[in-house]
Amino acid sequence: MEDREALLEDARAQIDAAADADAVKAVERAFTGKKGSVSALMAKIPTLPPEERKAFGQSVNELKRAIQAHVQARLDALAAAELASDREASDFDPTLPPPRPQRGSLHPITQVTRELEDLFESMGYEVLDGPEVELDFYNFEALNIPADHPARDSQDTFFCDEAGHLVMRTHTSPGQVRAMERLEPPFRIVVPGKCFRQETTDATHDHTFHQMEGLVVAKDVSVAHLIGAMKTLLAGIFERELDVRMRPGFFPFVEPGFELDARCPFCEDGCSVCKQTTWIELLPCGLVHPNVLRAGGLDPEEWSGFAFGLGLSRLVMLREEIDDIRHMLSGNVRFLEQF
Ligand code: DAH
Repeated sequence: MEDREALLEDARAQIDAAADADAVKAVERAFTGKKGSVSALMAKIPTLPPEERKAFGQSVNELKRAIQAHVQARLDALAAAELASDREASDFDPTLPPPRPQRGSLHPITQVTRELEDLFESMGYEVLDGPEVELDFYNFEALNIPADHPARDSQDTFFCDEAGHLVMRTHTSPGQVRAMERLEPPFRIVVPGKCFRQETTDATHDHTFHQMEGLVVAKDVSVAHLIGAMKTLLAGIFERELDVRMRPGFFPFVEPGFELDARCPFCEDGCSVCKQTTWIELLPCGLVHPNVLRAGGLDPEEWSGFAFGLGLSRLVMLREEIDDIRHMLSGNVRFLEQF
């Protein structure tokens, strides 16, 4: 019996002295492994008188269990000590609240687009979508801009194929003809979306920008309807009535065509936004050219319409006082967080 007690004593002392889990396991093997001292005791059993064997065997088994229990206790203690020292070293504070996920926000262009969609829907317009990769036909031909027309020069185009049939749309105006093909007149639509031009970029030009095209097709549409609709639109955007003025503007798909300017909503007698003129240039528009109606499958004797192209990027810049269009698509979080 003493030999077993001494063995347990010895095992406990060695286990307690082991500095890490590996050392503890080595001690465990030395005692309970195949060649360990506990096994050596077991091997003695056949040499004992038969009446002593059972009691001896039981006591050796108890010894083995006692060693294993001590091993486990030591391993647990080592693990707890390691965790405690890790925590101390890393300033871990389990009482702190968990970090919150970062909250995103809608891009200012998305915000303005949605606002305008609501506004137009309240005026009976339907919101349509058009492809960003467009056929030359819709982007130019059907808009009364034939292949050799100089107006193509001002729309520095990204071509998508050698033949020039596929282009990145340079404006949202192709949505006009697609709408005429799809809808039964009379109708009113807007087409918001991205446009692309092969520009040398600067504070007011980027290769990708946003527009919102508008088109109304009905009987006997006049410039008076156009002006009325544009004033309502501007009042919706700037939340008050703004005086407007019309200057002639050339766009092949409208006749007559206009540049519609609004009184600067930010000043009375000139500021940096209106470049001291008190007018801001916002809305090119006009009455739909008969050739465009024809390209859309409508009879210009029967149907007429007005169209406008709202520069969304420009509008957002005006409203949010953004000084460089290139911020818009920069993906810069510090820019986006402000909206
Ligand atoms: N599509 C023209 C552009 O991007 C803008 C425009 C002008 C649209 C007159 C219109 C319009 O609908 O009537 O330069």
